[in-house]
Amino acid sequence: MNKTGFIFDLDGVIVDTAKYHYLAWKELAAELNIPFTIEDNERLKGVSRLQSFEIILEIGGRTMSDEEKEYYCTKKNNLYKTFLETLKKEEVLPGVRNFLEAARAAKIPTALGSASKNAAFILEKLDLMDLLDVIIDGTLVSAAKPDPEVFLKGAEALSLDPADCIVFEDSFSGIEAAHRGGMKAIGVVTKENLPEADEWITGFDGLMPEDILKMLDR
Ligand code: BG6
Ligand code: MG
Repeated sequence: MNKTGFIFDLDGVIVDTAKYHYLAWKELAAELNIPFTIEDNERLKGVSRLQSFEIILEIGGRTMSDEEKEYYCTKKNNLYKTFLETLKKEEVLPGVRNFLEAARAAKIPTALGSASKNAAFILEKLDLMDLLDVIIDGTLVSAAKPDPEVFLKGAEALSLDPADCIVFEDSFSGIEAAHRGGMKAIGVVTKENLPEADEWITGFDGLMPEDILKMLDR
């Protein structure tokens, strides 16, 4: 086994479900008469469903009981899942499948580190379940990113030191979570969008695991 492992965020890194999260939240916010923009949506990336809703309530200057919050979170998830129903294998972001296959061939251990409770459903739809050695998702963690729990659990399940793990992330909260866990983080966006990352890629198309190892001097 290779000493370095890769931990992947799901939404926005492996598949562009971030846009479906946005559409579902936008519809819900409209129903509640809360203005919600694509810029506001950046704050929701990586954070749990409930915390996302709490951010939307904060934007609208609103408060709700726990029961009401649960009602709206379920409503959002049902809406989100209607978008997921039509998700196709082909929607895996360009190069991701190749990259995972190449990591497997190079004996680089891989994990999913996602806040989503829909992760298994999405990975099944994309036919990616078998290409990840370990799946840590929203059903297994209690503290949302930027808490490092999800990535630390990933490292532990891979039997790796956190310092030997490289995280791929598209969110502020995810980059911070990786750093708080003692891991390097590759921003899957432009440098301007996530300046705190250690290195940046715009996607996995044409990229090989060795390229990442070289970037971080491994
Ligand atoms: C993260 C997304 O991956 O999962 C967040 O970036 C989302 O936007 C979170 O809120 C929880 O997802 P789910 O599928 O459990 O609602
Ligand atoms: Mg993400």
